[in-house]
Amino acid sequence: MEARRETEKQFNCNVVLIGFMGTGKSSIARKMSKMFNLDIIEMDETIEEREGMTITQIFEKYGEEYFRNRETELLIEMQARENVIVSCGGGTPLRACNQAEMKKIGKVVWLNATPATILERVSRNNNRPLLEGNKNEAFIAEMLAGRIDKYKAAADIIVDTDNRSKLEVCNEINKRLAVF
Ligand code: S3P
Repeated sequence: MEARRETEKQFNCNVVLIGFMGTGKSSIARKMSKMFNLDIIEMDETIEEREGMTITQIFEKYGEEYFRNRETELLIEMQARENVIVSCGGGTPLRACNQAEMKKIGKVVWLNATPATILERVSRNNNRPLLEGNKNEAFIAEMLAGRIDKYKAAADIIVDTDNRSKLEVCNEINKRLAVF
């Protein structure tokens, strides 16, 4: 009975997931989408599809600024949508204008994790140009520290993901978004 109540959707807004690479944005978005029947927008994937290239290729061919412009455009476009969960790229909140644009979509949830957890999760693949050649805890800790203020400024709520199951994280988000 208790478990059943927990999985009832308790919020009425779109959800925007932010957080450093490897904090679980994509997997939490997939799980939330299934649990609460939300359309899922994976920003990196959408940009890759539109550009016909991987993120790594976009960075190589056009540079980071070009990619960041595509992110801003997509955030503005998503403001017309309802019943969606948007999984941002780890760097999307770095631009102050993006922090404002994502708040117009819905409530912003910052998924946080320690550098050690992040390292473990990002070690599995090579699709993150900003971490290639830098996959170590010290580099991640420094990059994360440099971004904390931006994530804080963008977020409506902060949720820890260290040593927690996807279900636990989704249940916490569900519960905490109920107050808005
Ligand atoms: C980036 C994070 C990536 C992707 C790009 C840049 C960043 O997304 O958008 O490689 O600046 O943190 P994920 O957080 O989904 O890996």
